[in-house]
Amino acid sequence: MVDIHTHVLPDLDDGPGTVEESLDLARAAWEAGTRTIVATPHVLNLATLGDNSLIYQRFEEFRATLQAVLPELNLVLGSEIYFQPHLSDYLCFPAATLNNTRRYMLVEFSLGDIPRGWEREIAAMRKNGVIPVLAHPERNAVVIGKPALVGKMVAEGALIQMNAGSLTGQFGSAVKKVAQILLRKGWVHVIASDSHSAEHRGPDLRKAVDVAAGEIGAAAAGRLVQENPWFILKGGPWPGL
Ligand SMILES: [Fe+2]
Repeated sequence: MVDIHTHVLPDLDDGPGTVEESLDLARAAWEAGTRTIVATPHVLNLATLGDNSLIYQRFEEFRATLQAVLPELNLVLGSEIYFQPHLSDYLCFPAATLNNTRRYMLVEFSLGDIPRGWEREIAAMRKNGVIPVLAHPERNAVVIGKPALVGKMVAEGALIQMNAGSLTGQFGSAVKKVAQILLRKGWVHVIASDSHSAEHRGPDLRKAVDVAAGEIGAAAAGRLVQENPWFILKGGPWPGL
């Protein structure tokens, strides 16, 4: 499996505080059958993600450590970018896109609202060759009240990343219900862990895949954690978009 959304890097955001905790998370991912993880630390202002960002240093250090301990686990870099206008201005920053594809950006809205002008920004990104991958919209309060909004986001040219924990009930029954609706509608492209530690919000995707399989069948559920995220990391244009 391929997990495109994790907070695995140490001492950067609300993920692990120490290298040892980061290694615990990575080991748990490996033991659950994940073979590639993308480190996606929170980035509140993409303009700050220049060469001097601590993210690059933490990534290189942790990759070297992981290489010595768990060399088979593939670690690549990205970031989880808080929505702001003109995101595609920063494509030159290696961590701005998933695996430096210069195409796929993991973007999050606040959990409480949908920002005004999101349609305009998605259109601007698409015009610049960027495909936003929207992080966990099923957790958003506005989407919970109106799941059809996600269909609109997909129609505007965004991909949707759902959290594994949303499907397993970790964020409550309302989120789980919306997650199931989005799956059945065919509006979900990737399931990822958004893991912050080995245990609490951990990296194991298997239970969520089982729940998804109950909604859309095993083959379609498998694609959400294998082919689709892998396709994103390779960076080619998304078919049909
Ligand atoms: Fe996240």
